[in-house]
Amino acid sequence: MKIALLGTGAGARCHAAKLTTLGHQVTVGTRDPKATLARTEPDMMGTEPFAGFLAAHPQLTLATFADAAEAGELVINGIDGANAVTALAALPVGALADKTLIDYAVPYVYQQPDDAENPWPTPWGAMPHLDPVDTDSLAEQIQRALPHTRVVKAFVTQEQETVVHPAEFGDGDHTMFLAGDHDSAKTAATELLNAYGWSDIIDLGPLQAARGLEMYAHFHTALGLALGHRFGVKIVR
Ligand SMILES: NC(=O)c1ccc[n+]([C@@H]2O[C@H](COP(=O)([O-])OP(=O)(O)OC[C@H]3O[C@@H](n4cnc5c(N)ncnc54)[C@H](OP(=O)(O)O)[C@@H]3O)[C@@H](O)[C@H]2O)c1
Repeated sequence: MKIALLGTGAGARCHAAKLTTLGHQVTVGTRDPKATLARTEPDMMGTEPFAGFLAAHPQLTLATFADAAEAGELVINGIDGANAVTALAALPVGALADKTLIDYAVPYVYQQPDDAENPWPTPWGAMPHLDPVDTDSLAEQIQRALPHTRVVKAFVTQEQETVVHPAEFGDGDHTMFLAGDHDSAKTAATELLNAYGWSDIIDLGPLQAARGLEMYAHFHTALGLALGHRFGVKIVR
């Protein structure tokens, strides 16, 4: 299948690399391919410049967000959460219309005036804010901005390295969640998760449930910091 991976961050790279091993034709989207390939320094998360990753994965195509979205039959959103709605809404309508978009972004807003009051062992020393939160979610904002696209929230409760390699924990017997207003999009996300190796997938119902999935991010980070390594989460019932 032709899959568009919108984003060049650490998470997007996990999907891009895994999807090529599964035989998919992957186009990675970025704001400006030339500028992305010209970077020589790691980003604020310590992620190495994209050029080295692309050199190691020559099956991938790098394109603008618009060209990548156009090329994809299925689209995965890995654009930084604070900028995703603006970036997606700016794309030509036809590039995303009648397509499933799987969104894994967290609406983190970094480096706020009250950072000193929220110490947290991130690279910049503070806990990011979530915006939106409680009464809305990034996924719902994306769905409202793209009414002709079928948005499904998934993957977001894990590091993307774990999403594409679930067997690293408990032989893969741990739980993934999704939410959305379109059954066909949830089926597409489930099929992809099955191909990655997930079997315990809980459908949380309408896209509104993305609020909880996004708000879980702080707890997930706290667990990761407490354990000191990645982990799986199993819902026992
Ligand atoms: N990494 C994970 O394992 C993981 C796990 C769960 C959730 N998430 C969430 O998923 C999202 C993506 O994470 P990530 O680690 O893959 O990458 P990221 O570093 O958070 O985001 C990188 C992408 O965001 C784009 N971007 C940044 N600022 C932009 C702007 N002003 N306008 C348009 N695009 C902009 C970058 O564009 P360029 O390509 O042009 O630089 C790049 O493609 C985040 O919200 C993150 O919190 C990540």
